[in-house]
Amino acid sequence: MGRQIDWENLGFNYIQTDCFIKYVWQNGAWSQGELLTEPYLNLHIAATALHYGQSAFEGLKAFHGKDGDIRVFRPLQNARRMARTARRICMPEVPEDMFVDAIERVIQANRDYVPPYGTGGALYIRPLLFGSSPQIGVSPAEEYIFLVMVLPVGPYYKGGLQPVRAVVLEDYDRAAPQGVGNVKVAGNYAASLEPHAKAHEQGFAVELYLDSKEHTYIEEFGTSNFVAINGQDRFITPTSSSILPSITNDSLQHIAQDMDIPVEKRPIPFDEVSTLKEAGACGTAVVLTPVNEIVRNGRSYRVGPEQGCGEKLEVLYENVTGIQHGDKPDPYGWILNVDSARTS
Ligand code: PLP
Ligand code: COI
Repeated sequence: MGRQIDWENLGFNYIQTDCFIKYVWQNGAWSQGELLTEPYLNLHIAATALHYGQSAFEGLKAFHGKDGDIRVFRPLQNARRMARTARRICMPEVPEDMFVDAIERVIQANRDYVPPYGTGGALYIRPLLFGSSPQIGVSPAEEYIFLVMVLPVGPYYKGGLQPVRAVVLEDYDRAAPQGVGNVKVAGNYAASLEPHAKAHEQGFAVELYLDSKEHTYIEEFGTSNFVAINGQDRFITPTSSSILPSITNDSLQHIAQDMDIPVEKRPIPFDEVSTLKEAGACGTAVVLTPVNEIVRNGRSYRVGPEQGCGEKLEVLYENVTGIQHGDKPDPYGWILNVDSARTS
C-alpha cells in the first residue's frame, strides 16, 4: 500500500498506515504494547481526555537515508518533553526506553510508508498520551492510553523553503506566563484554532504570538518557535516561561554555535523586528520555514529577503536536514538509526 503513494507531492495530511502501537496504564503499570490495524479506539464517554483535556502529544520524524537505513531525529528529547507534559497535567510518565521502543516497533511495522530518500518527505511520528477512564469531578484519570501513530508527510507549508508572511493578532494570546504554554498539552492547539483561522482569512500562513502579560515581547508561532538573524549576524530566539522548548530550535542553536554564529536566548521586544536580517519558524513539522514579513496593527515589517531563505538560516537548514537524512555526520549523537545499533 505504501508503494502507491505519490511521494513527491505529499502534504501534511492524515494518511492511514498499516498499524499503530497502543499501551494501557492500569493499576500503576504499563502494558507491553500491541500493534493494532484499525485506527479506532473504544473509549469511555467520560474519559478525562474528552472532557477536561487531559491529553498530550509529541511530534518527531524519521527519514530514509541514501543507504536505505531509517533514522529517527532526537527521540529521547521528545520522550523527556512528553514526561514533563505528563507531570504538568498529572498523567503517568512514559519511561524513556518504552517511548523509544514504541517508536522503533511502529516504524518497523510501517517501513513501506517511510518516504524514499530524495523525495523530500518524512515519516511523521505522533506519540499521544491521554486519560482514558471516567471521571466527572475534575481530577486525573486512573487509566491512560499511550499510542504512537505514524504517517508519511511532506512540507507543512506549501513551497518548502519559500518565505511565508506572519501576522500578530492583538486580540489573542497563546499561553499565560504560568500556564501550560511550555508543555505540549492538546488544549494549546484548540486555543490556536480560531486565531489561526483569522490569520488565514487575512492571507497569512502563520500567526505570531506576543507575551500575554504586556504584548511587548515576541513569543512564538502557533506550531513553531521564532528564530532570527539580527543586524549583528547573531542567531536570536526568545526566552519565556510560556514558549514550548523546540527540539529543532535547540538543534539549530548547537549547529549555529559550531559554525561560530553567536546564539542569544533572551526576551526579544517586538520592536526589534525592524533590525532583523532573516527570520524563520522552526519545528518538526515546519522544519525551518523562512518568514519574510510580519504585520502588526496594519504596519508591515520586512524581516527577510523577498525570495527564498536568508543566507545564514539556509546554511542552518542544510546542516540540520543533512544530519536528519544521514547525508552529514552526526557529531551530536542525535540520530537513532533503527537499522543499526543504537547510537543515541
Ligand atoms: N512550538 C509549538 C507551539 C509547537 O507546537 C512546536 C511543535 O512541536 C514547536 C514549537 C516546535 O517544537 P519541535 O522543534 O520540538 O517540534
Ligand atoms: C510538530 O511540529 O511536530 C507539531 O507538533 C506541530 C503541529 C503539527 C501541531
